[in-house]
Amino acid sequence: MFRKITTLVATAAVSAMILTGAAIADPVTIKFSHVVAENTPKGQMANKFKDLVAERLGGKVVVEVFPNSQLFGDNKVLEAMLLGDVQMGAPSLSKFSRYTKKLQIYDLPFLFKDMKAVDTFQQSEKGQELLTSLEKKGLVGLGYLHNGMKQLSSSKELHVPADANGLKFRIMTSEVLAAQFQAVNATPLKKPFSEVFTLLQTKAIDGQENTWSNIYSKKFFEVQPYITESNHGLLDYMVVTSKEFWYGLPDDVRTEVKKALDDAILFGNQVAAQKATDDRQKIVDSKRSQIITLDDAERAQWVEVMKPVWKKFEHEIGKDMIDAAYASNK
Ligand code: SIN
Repeated sequence: MFRKITTLVATAAVSAMILTGAAIADPVTIKFSHVVAENTPKGQMANKFKDLVAERLGGKVVVEVFPNSQLFGDNKVLEAMLLGDVQMGAPSLSKFSRYTKKLQIYDLPFLFKDMKAVDTFQQSEKGQELLTSLEKKGLVGLGYLHNGMKQLSSSKELHVPADANGLKFRIMTSEVLAAQFQAVNATPLKKPFSEVFTLLQTKAIDGQENTWSNIYSKKFFEVQPYITESNHGLLDYMVVTSKEFWYGLPDDVRTEVKKALDDAILFGNQVAAQKATDDRQKIVDSKRSQIITLDDAERAQWVEVMKPVWKKFEHEIGKDMIDAAYASNK
């Protein structure tokens, strides 16, 4: 008798839940954490991804975007992803060295002459192979996103490598970037992106390297009187997630989320190309910072002193990989 009553009560409770909708599964939440402002290529790509997922998968998947290092800085986000505290991020390719040495290729100075060459390499077999280089560590590379070519900002005019002698530059956590600045007798300091403005403002460092979009959106140009248009390196991103999260999604949902992400990345890449021109111009118009362009002879000096860095990292990256990347300049 007691068992019969318990069964009846349980059945009634389940019916009530179904009627009130309480038994409907909660949507999957994707927390997307990044360190830049919302008006950057990455910020706009993440917001677009959120909108596309809401449009196409509304009710099943919800994307929450946390810009400006609100949730995690890039140095912590991958750890947090493996712990399940965040599901997606897009750290710069320079910030993966604890997980794979292969991606160091993207930090080699003067490897790519422009973004077209970067695109050619990233879409090639070898470039796509690098997206899987994090799998052993439990991470899945879902796609590349552009920001653009890096410039050198400084408290001093930089025309030739000797001008950088003795200066302190903030770098991302990359041994290649450290070697690049050591090659010009400067001191590299690994610091989080969120600290760069204050370090520049307080003159704790003399300079930094970044794209037009980051120099503009984080107001570095307001505290750096000179920017050398060196285009010496690349700042690109990899959109990543954890294997556990990604393969835990139902197949149809994963396929739709990936499509939304691919579309958002295409959009982000268009924003990146536009911002490389527009944000440079805004900095020129501000008259807060003088842009120094290099003539061929000056540029050749930077290439000559920085290019030997390639050899130093060849054993970790692979000569075949470097050759393939360099060939994409043709
Ligand atoms: C970013 O664009 O995500 C940050 C780049 C940096 O740390 O300089």
